[in-house]
Amino acid sequence: MAPGALTGQRVMITAGPTHEAIDPVRYIANRSSGKMGYALAEAALAAGAEVILVSGPVHLTAPTACQTISVESASEMLEQVMLNIRQTDIFIGCAAVADFRPAVIEGQKIKKQGRQQMTLELEATTDIIATVSASEYRPKLVVGFAAETELLAEHADSKRQQKGLDIIAGNHVGKGIGFASEENALEVFWSGGGQRLPRQHKRLLADALMTLIIERYHAKDTT
Ligand code: PMT
Repeated sequence: MAPGALTGQRVMITAGPTHEAIDPVRYIANRSSGKMGYALAEAALAAGAEVILVSGPVHLTAPTACQTISVESASEMLEQVMLNIRQTDIFIGCAAVADFRPAVIEGQKIKKQGRQQMTLELEATTDIIATVSASEYRPKLVVGFAAETELLAEHADSKRQQKGLDIIAGNHVGKGIGFASEENALEVFWSGGGQRLPRQHKRLLADALMTLIIERYHAKDTT
């Protein structure tokens, strides 16, 4: 990856899971550790970018050179992303944002009260990356991820089109890859092209993905 290739450019990256409260002590979450998003923040810094990292709850130390905004829920992540979207040149949505949250957050701890079953009503969250892409302040390049357990290429490219993304990086999740592990592999798609990035440490993979992002970013100047 060319050092300095993103000098003067602002990159915003989301990372980690979101926590969707059920009551004051419980929440719905997922297995994201934040490692892929934090590795991308390091790669963008290494390319000379100014980096804003909007992070869900993780057990990682953010690079000191980037501005880190910590959030818990999908709605907090959306708010912070949209507050900071102006002047962002490249947006990378690597966070595993909850698609659904409890429709009601109970004010007190829900009691078991002898129940053998209970039903939680969930409502859809707002899609952050689709909102960024449709925004009047749309960054020049919007990059998403797709976490899939089957039909990776098909599902990833359809998400790219539905959400209005320039690039999508699809990854298999489960069985020791994707979520939480040190390594990952990506199938990257853009309009009219794509590239497979083989399994490797997330920090190296982040450099390889950043190289593709930089190429597509500069290619946009000529299209
Ligand atoms: O954090 P790690 O343990 O290192 O794991 C990395 C990872 C597997 C979480 C990461 O590589 C990854 O795949 N991130 C995206 C996870 C995800 O939510 O994928 P999705 O296919 O459900 O969503 C597609 C895209 O829409 C993503 O860019 C996501 O950030 C975005 N999205 C989804 C829902 C929502 N409400 N708002 C969004 O912006």
